[in-house]
Amino acid sequence: MSTHADLGMELGARVAAALRTGLDVRVDPVDTLIRPSTRDGVDYQCNIAMSLAKKLGRPPREVATALVEALDAADMVAETEIAGPGFVNFVLRDDWLAERVAELLGDPRAGVPVTDAPRRFALDYSSPNVAKTMHVGNMRSTVIGDALHRLLAFAGHEVLPHNHLGDWGTPFGMLIEHMLDSGLDGSITDLNAFYQQARAKFDADEAFATRSRDRVVKLQAGDEQTRQLWQRLVDESARHFQAVYDLLGIRLTQANIYGESFYNPYLGEVVDELTELGLTEVSDGAVCVFPPGFTGREGQRLPLIVRKSDGGYGYAATDLATARYWTRERDVTDLLYVVGSPQAQHFQMVFAVCTQAGYLTDKHRAEHIAFGSVLGADGKMMRTRAGESVALIGLLEEAVARAAKVIEERSELAEADRAAVARAVGIGAVKYADLAGDRLKDYVFTWEKMLAKDGNTSVYLQYAIARIRSVLRKAGETVQPGTAVRLGEPAERALAVKLLQLPAAIDAAVAEYAPHKLCGYLFETASAFTGFYENCPILASSTPDDVRGSRLALAALTADVLVLGLSLLGIDAPERL
Ligand code: ARG
Repeated sequence: MSTHADLGMELGARVAAALRTGLDVRVDPVDTLIRPSTRDGVDYQCNIAMSLAKKLGRPPREVATALVEALDAADMVAETEIAGPGFVNFVLRDDWLAERVAELLGDPRAGVPVTDAPRRFALDYSSPNVAKTMHVGNMRSTVIGDALHRLLAFAGHEVLPHNHLGDWGTPFGMLIEHMLDSGLDGSITDLNAFYQQARAKFDADEAFATRSRDRVVKLQAGDEQTRQLWQRLVDESARHFQAVYDLLGIRLTQANIYGESFYNPYLGEVVDELTELGLTEVSDGAVCVFPPGFTGREGQRLPLIVRKSDGGYGYAATDLATARYWTRERDVTDLLYVVGSPQAQHFQMVFAVCTQAGYLTDKHRAEHIAFGSVLGADGKMMRTRAGESVALIGLLEEAVARAAKVIEERSELAEADRAAVARAVGIGAVKYADLAGDRLKDYVFTWEKMLAKDGNTSVYLQYAIARIRSVLRKAGETVQPGTAVRLGEPAERALAVKLLQLPAAIDAAVAEYAPHKLCGYLFETASAFTGFYENCPILASSTPDDVRGSRLALAALTADVLVLGLSLLGIDAPERL
């Protein structure tokens, strides 16, 4: 009976045991350097002999030989081979693999364990700015953050998502005055236009600018009427954000909003604390902290401004209060910020000051989950023809419309289901394109590529799932737990190995906050299924009953794994396509 659903981990445990008995060295199973092999006919390789050899003062091949001789894994491993300087190659037994796969039948987690070291995460994502339309730049934080939310929760961690809305600061004076001027009834239909009109008036009209400045002072002093006007503006924006989240299928709601204004009451205390700790300096009238190790081009120390010379607080002070709040009041162990790469230095400095201040200690981890930009076909930041940032809601509507065209010729689809399927395909394609590459890299937004039926796209995965479901419907039987799995054909075996690697894929995606690792795995699994489907007839009359049962089980498991994987990326899989 295996203890680990994950192949690599199980092999690691066996190797660790062999190192103990054969060489009297203790190594944690995760550190045995077991990796899937890229060599044909080899499943895994172990790379530990080389580094152990140095420590033990023995030749690597001798260490590898001792390892292989002490290995107690005849139930699991069919063949071992020592290659090159001391790699150990493993071929797993077909019957062992078949039993492991059969164990997955009926398991809603498809073999993925729940972590035995759960942590509590404050996850900052989406975080758009009030009185601005959500644009394509807000998409990545929203989509990547949502995927991480789902992945972490599935792995067994506690996740406290918070939406750090930009809802505070000097622009609100002019926005409120403009709202008063333009009459209070009716909703703001175009947030961007509203913002630009306010801005234009502020620049052209001195009296308006003065009123706006006075209004900011009132807002910060907590004047009741001003506060109400401000709230209306925030609510208008939040309604728009919610519409985008609903269309995207994002889990954020009103209850997750912890905007910049939320931390306002704490800012004074933060400055006092930092000052008491002797961390602050006054520089040009502003209260600053100069965290060690941060210097500009000319070697000058870089400040984190905690209170501006006019007495106001800015973005950085708010982020200090934010970290303090989530670690102290909400007892989180981990702080994740899903924010674009240009803010890297800001977060490094915030983390440094938080550590100096004791807001972050040894038991905490803070990480900036950075990401690159979305580019247009010209390789520059994606913009409209007029040079403006692209509104997200329009982009998503276009995705659904284009998906409707893609599925137009699918006769299997009932008329009534078409709208829902188009939405799953269109929204899924946009999300998947955002998640499938290393998040640190920029990517080019291309409709044709993201909606392609072949390649590493959600459409390819959704088609694979729908094909499997159609086969299962035709078979007219449900696959029962306990069905015997047989791996006679190479394509069956290759698919089985892939299905058993889901735990490792999810583990890597979680550990590195890297949804693309899960995407890559899902693509490989769907490709392995395609190979299986082409080579191993399931329902043909020539297929013996036991083989048919086994193949149906492999197909059903593939669908389960792909559906689960897509759901962790926030993507739906239509029943028919
Ligand atoms: N509103 C900010 C922006 O649009 C992002 C906020 C990110 N979160 C944070 N805690 N700083 O750039």
